[in-house]
Amino acid sequence: MLPKISITDRTQELENLVLVVRSLKALPDGVFTASEMSFIRRQHKELKKDIISYNRLGNWTYVYVIKEEKSDYKRLEASRKAGKKVGEMLNSQKAAKVVVFDHDNHPSETLAFAEGMALGNYQFMKYKADKEKKNTLRKIEIYSEPVNREPGTGSLEPGAGNRDPGFMNIVNDAVYQCRDLINEPASYLTATVFSKEIEKLGKECGAKVEVMNKKKLEVLQMGGILGVNQGSHEPPTFTVMEWKPADAVNKKPIVFVGKGIVFDTGGMNLKPGDSMLNMKDDMSGAAAAALAVYAIAKAKLPVFVVGLMPATDNRPGTKAIVPGDVLKMHNGMTVEVLNTDAEGRLILADALSYARKYKPELVIDMATLTGAAVRAIGKFACAGMESGAPEELLELTESGFKTSERIVELPMWEEYGELIKSEIADLKNIGPGDAGTITAGKFLEKFTDYPYIHLDIAGPAFLDKADSYRGIGGTGFGVRLLFDYVMKRVSSGDEITG
Ligand code: BES
Ligand code: ZN
Ligand code: ZN
Repeated sequence: MLPKISITDRTQELENLVLVVRSLKALPDGVFTASEMSFIRRQHKELKKDIISYNRLGNWTYVYVIKEEKSDYKRLEASRKAGKKVGEMLNSQKAAKVVVFDHDNHPSETLAFAEGMALGNYQFMKYKADKEKKNTLRKIEIYSEPVNREPGTGSLEPGAGNRDPGFMNIVNDAVYQCRDLINEPASYLTATVFSKEIEKLGKECGAKVEVMNKKKLEVLQMGGILGVNQGSHEPPTFTVMEWKPADAVNKKPIVFVGKGIVFDTGGMNLKPGDSMLNMKDDMSGAAAAALAVYAIAKAKLPVFVVGLMPATDNRPGTKAIVPGDVLKMHNGMTVEVLNTDAEGRLILADALSYARKYKPELVIDMATLTGAAVRAIGKFACAGMESGAPEELLELTESGFKTSERIVELPMWEEYGELIKSEIADLKNIGPGDAGTITAGKFLEKFTDYPYIHLDIAGPAFLDKADSYRGIGGTGFGVRLLFDYVMKRVSSGDEITG
């Protein structure tokens, strides 16, 4: 369960307490006895511990010494990770509440610590009968003079502190819900159920949601989505989510597009061996797009944003597309499908082409698109490419460092585009093997005519092994990144709007 973060203006004796300090010298007089102080010093200096804990009459005190790091970003991420560690210790004590005390005025690190603790508390328990191992932590109170001085202003700098705890709760909740959707198996989360879940989200946050069914997709001639869906016993959906506040700073929307393959078997090019194992995660991009809109709407940010979530599974049914088939896409272009496992780009192409009707100021897509991205970058960042949006990608990359949902840029040079020209159609859906992440990006670019950023999140979207506050399973990658980016857009006003 998501622990709620709140601001408090007092600390009490006899409760679980974390003291966040930059240096042990800053520890408050009178709080520790001389022997406690020497214990803390020894743990820090000799045993090199950043987190020192001890018990007093059943209540735990933790001292977190903020690590010396060269950049603010690294310090914030180290603080999140420390928060996760302390959260684990508190859960093992069956604690429900903790106060995090920003002792020597490091509000950003303190908020990041709370953020890591909250995000690290996530569990997916829906299918477990035995709820014994359920985390107990429910409440994180922050005591911080700088935060108390400006409660709710959201003006704290830098990083996590840019969001007041109210926003932090909203965004954490969105990350939790995103993880839930990703962790749901395909037996539950069909395209239809996925779109119903997004309808529920829309009702909750005040965004408008429209679900386009198979008939509508036929009318719109979305040959990519319909083609991928041919092998399935379940119909496809295309869900549109719109947050258009009256006070929006932008007239043209920022559009998020997400790959919503609820399960990727590979289709007729069936995935071999274990490579199919985690393919329920192939809708992580769509989940992140929907939950980013959700968080932005819940926070009532004055920014016009749209989410486009095409969804289907990819299966080898009797009617499934086979290699060599040619599909006619929503924008009229034709695609020779040489590998049915390169299906994500087919459904995204239709969604990107559909996005043109919004005359968007920017489109960002997120997709678990290529194994090549995982091989190149691993789990610690996504691959990013841009077309006509170099400044925007720089801004987004900065948000990536801030939230630790990092982006590594790959090029979109035209030579790569040559590699996906087909002999018999306008395009083919795979390149020659090399640079698979870039050729996939070039393929998508062909369906855009607006400033465009493509994020291949195949690596960081889902983990087999926990990475601190990003536990096993869906990570929710993209939600915090896009929220932070849109927050910046609020303060940049309407200068981008033409
Ligand atoms: N969903 C996969 C990509 C993927 C791989 C995501 C590993 C997460 C982890 C995608 O649809 C796919 O199968 N891509 C193929 C493309 C190839 C056939 C050109 C791939 O990467 O092997
Ligand atoms: Zn595939
Ligand atoms: Zn896929």
